Amino acid sequence: MTFITNSEAETAALGAALAERLRGGGVVALTGELGAGKTVFIRGLAKGLGVSARVTSPTFTIVNEYPGDTPLFHIDMYRLSSAGELIDAGWDDYAAREGVIAAEWSDIAPELIPEDAARVGIVDLGGDSRRVTIDLPEAPL
Ligand SMILES: Nc1ncnc2c1ncn2[C@@H]1O[C@H](COP(=O)(O)OP(=O)(O)OP(=O)(O)O)[C@@H](O)[C@H]1O
Ligand SMILES: [Mg+2]
Repeated sequence: MTFITNSEAETAALGAALAERLRGGGVVALTGELGAGKTVFIRGLAKGLGVSARVTSPTFTIVNEYPGDTPLFHIDMYRLSSAGELIDAGWDDYAAREGVIAAEWSDIAPELIPEDAARVGIVDLGGDSRRVTIDLPEAPL
């Protein structure tokens, strides 16, 4: 599905809507250039998951963990030099836990993204306009 948003709040609302599908956990793989709105989307996702803390970019850590009705693990792959670094940071442990992993710059380590991940691509169309494409995994039988 592709949406055009015209404000930060509209992009966050798409994130919150996606949360409805992810109550049991899962991976959200985000792509988009610097300042596209990946963190904004994840902020909305967090709200939808019942996370009360304000989500900020994990600048000094690879993973930020937020408790909530469904816990959120916010990962920024931007500064990773290899997928191995993320494995060392505990990727497998996060993936095994009940919670949602939201990974910014997921194209940096595509081998870590499971096939059934939800994929979110955001493109800056100029001004406050963004094209947000959300590809959901097929619903389980
Ligand atoms: N329609 C919109 N949707 C999302 N963000 C928007 C929109 N219009 C303007 N913005 C602004 O764009 C910026 C998006 O920043 P954000 O931190 O979410 O980007 P990012 O993709 O996470 O970048 P980075 O790769 O640096 O982490 C914010 O300053 C936000 O206010
Ligand atoms: Mg960000």
